[in-house]
Amino acid sequence: MGLVGAGFVGPHHVDAVRRLGYVDIVAVAGSSEASGQVKAEALGARRGYGSYQALLDDPDVQVVHNATPNHLHYAVTSAALAKGKHVVSDKPLAMTTAESKRLVEEARRAGVVTAVTFNYRGNPLVQQARHAIAKGDIGTPHFIHGRYLQDWLLKDTDYSWRLDPAQGGNSSALGDIGSHWCDLAQHVTGRRITHVLGDLTTVVKQRKKPRGSREAFQAGGGGEVDVVDIAVEDLASVLVRFEGGARGVFSVGQVCGGHKNDLVLEVCGSTASMRWRQEHQNELWIGHRDSPNQVLQKDPSLLDPETRGYAHLPGGHQEAWADAFCNLMREIYAAIAAGPPYAPLPPMVASFDDGLRANRIVDAILASAEDGGAWTKV
Ligand SMILES: NC(=O)c1ccc[n+]([C@@H]2O[C@H](COP(=O)([O-])OP(=O)(O)OC[C@H]3O[C@@H](n4cnc5c(N)ncnc54)[C@H](O)[C@@H]3O)[C@@H](O)[C@H]2O)c1
Repeated sequence: MGLVGAGFVGPHHVDAVRRLGYVDIVAVAGSSEASGQVKAEALGARRGYGSYQALLDDPDVQVVHNATPNHLHYAVTSAALAKGKHVVSDKPLAMTTAESKRLVEEARRAGVVTAVTFNYRGNPLVQQARHAIAKGDIGTPHFIHGRYLQDWLLKDTDYSWRLDPAQGGNSSALGDIGSHWCDLAQHVTGRRITHVLGDLTTVVKQRKKPRGSREAFQAGGGGEVDVVDIAVEDLASVLVRFEGGARGVFSVGQVCGGHKNDLVLEVCGSTASMRWRQEHQNELWIGHRDSPNQVLQKDPSLLDPETRGYAHLPGGHQEAWADAFCNLMREIYAAIAAGPPYAPLPPMVASFDDGLRANRIVDAILASAEDGGAWTKV
């Protein structure tokens, strides 16, 4: 494994892969020679590189994990595919739909294993909900709703490259976390989002941007700053239509005090409802009309046989974000280890096509908002 971009999420890719036990963490590439060395040492990788090109030239690196800021996703992934490396891209697949379309094509030609880390899919109770809904446990879904709220951009001293369209893309909160919600809603219900109507706003219109670099989720304060205008949304609500007729609505925002990583997905069907909340991810709520509601604990002995393999500890032993991330890596690396011709990855792992679809949904929401809140086809 070689990692490009070791900021907030990159080290979690390394941790998850290391837990598999049979993968060498060969190298880390940073934004400079010095940072490549420091990060490689901190993560226990054998080599540190000052550029992704140098890492791609290393013949020992067979799988490239791309955890750079969005504007570098296309260049790094495209170059890795051109060298015949497998690619695990963090989301978004690329910053623009046009770039993602090219990557889908390039991946198909390369014939390697590729995946996008829409990691909430890897949670055992998410898989349980998906399986239960597919076999009709809540009847036909008619209302798919929820939210994804965080608070790490609440203050005007909070800053991230995500707020600069040149580095993050034309959307901030929607592209960053709304894309997770949309992917999860589609994955769990097996229904695609077909139309959207978006209401977007920028709550914090000016921010104090530090002159030095700052990685995600680092609190602001201290050091020299520039006051910059913010053009991208930090709060949005979206009405959604799904194929098959289900309606939906979700809100995303990174300016909502007290909400740390508050992703909630609820599906109301013709016979029951089901809700999963990331901040209480070891519980799945099942709502009934004619009998008491239930809370299913993440306990392998209580899960369906098809999903219990994603839970690795007995009931009452909490599993979390990093374990779900590892579930993805287990599937991706199993496919790589099995060798060519590479079998398709199981549906739990988001494909490059799924990544492209996420770009298209965000584009449609932005277009809807620009149209003053018009229903827009994805
Ligand atoms: N799946 C998830 O839940 C999740 C969570 C967080 C971030 N992400 C995604 O992961 C990516 C990284 O986000 P982050 O929060 O870790 O950002 P970050 O800013 O914390 O980290 C990015 C890292 O990339 C490094 N970098 C910049 N230019 C580079 C270059 N040319 N070569 C090598 N490294 C370079 C930076 O120095 C930094 O260490 C983003 O695309 C983001 O959308 C996904």
